[in-house]
Amino acid sequence: MTMADKLPVPDPIAQQYSEQLVTLIKQKIVDAGGKISFADYMQHCLFAPGLGYYSAGSHKIGKQGDFTTAPEISSLFSRTLAQHINDVFKQIEQLNILEFGAGSGKMAVDILTELKSQSMLPEHYYIIEASADLRDRQEKLLHSEIPDIANRVVWLDSLPENFIGVILANEVCDAMPVHCLQFNQGRVSERYIETINSELQWCDDEDLSQPLLAKHANNIQDLIGNINYTTEVNLAAEAWLTSLAASLEQGAIFIIDYGYPQTSYYHPQRDNGTLMCYYQHQGHDNPLILQGIQDITAHINFTALAQTAMDNELDVEGFQSQADFLLAGGITELAPTDDNELSHLHYASKLKQLTLPSEMGESFKVLTLSKNLEQLLPRCKLADRRYSL
Ligand SMILES: C[S@@+](CC[C@H](N)C(=O)[O-])C[C@H]1O[C@@H](n2cnc3c(N)ncnc32)[C@H](O)[C@@H]1O
Repeated sequence: MTMADKLPVPDPIAQQYSEQLVTLIKQKIVDAGGKISFADYMQHCLFAPGLGYYSAGSHKIGKQGDFTTAPEISSLFSRTLAQHINDVFKQIEQLNILEFGAGSGKMAVDILTELKSQSMLPEHYYIIEASADLRDRQEKLLHSEIPDIANRVVWLDSLPENFIGVILANEVCDAMPVHCLQFNQGRVSERYIETINSELQWCDDEDLSQPLLAKHANNIQDLIGNINYTTEVNLAAEAWLTSLAASLEQGAIFIIDYGYPQTSYYHPQRDNGTLMCYYQHQGHDNPLILQGIQDITAHINFTALAQTAMDNELDVEGFQSQADFLLAGGITELAPTDDNELSHLHYASKLKQLTLPSEMGESFKVLTLSKNLEQLLPRCKLADRRYSL
């Protein structure tokens, strides 16, 4: 029995949505001449209008959804991030925030609340959100939780020019579609999706769908040697970061996600890659089921992002574990100071979830990038691991 065999059975309505999406994907495969790259398949599964996992109306994030994220676990996370944002705000003249993929909107609510308490509210809090459904939920949450300052939040469809401020992306890059590569005794092929006997199936082809993949394949081959190996390359995250670098005139970018430097990412022992699916809080490794009703993610190769940053004139300020980033931001000082034992216990348990190595503290990393800042960001130097990139 595989992990996927033990999953809960979707209800009939979810099943129907999923079948509609599979029909659409099969048509895309026909239109493309018989196969599509895994990246195109993942893009349809997550973002096909009205049917994709993020585009349709399912719950996704939080207890009722399929996975939870740090901002949903506790406001401590976003309030600590606000201290890092403040360090940047002290060095720039226009105070703006741009958040990518804002999920439920909880992080925006907590950051704005914290910055308001410090009289450091940004002029604008921009959000770029790929999912119309989530954008709708963000608007509702912001207007109900912080009605007095919600008018500072503006949704954008594309990057602003000459942006001065702070850019945030928490668990966004891992939702970007990845290409899958297969290495077989020194030969590389790309993993595509085709239809065989009406079923969606993997198929491998030595013709790579994107010329850029060849460079990545050579690099991976050097790291793994001549073994059989399956892995992922996230070209979308590199293109996204290139566009951020072009848009940012002055400020910083905080990218928070689960992932590794490339030597760990492409470690010979990680021979099955990092692709994971989440359905109702259960993780498994089969993306060819539950289309549109399960999340599909891959870990982040932070070396590739740091290299892209440097190639595009961004400074790499720090690379920390989430635990070190939060400790440097003063998370332990943000817990309530009253005598209420229950609330102390509550915060202690959330603090553990966010920082313990066995929870999110070590698997999640923070890559801090900057442009045209006069001074370094000192908090990003605590247990900085740029040497590992
Ligand atoms: C895993 S959720 C994380 C949500 C939120 N940041 C949090 O931490 O709770 C991924 C989010 O990124 C959004 N997303 C994915 N790719 C995106 C892109 N290229 N541009 C903007 N948003 C994107 C999704 O719609 C969703 O809101």
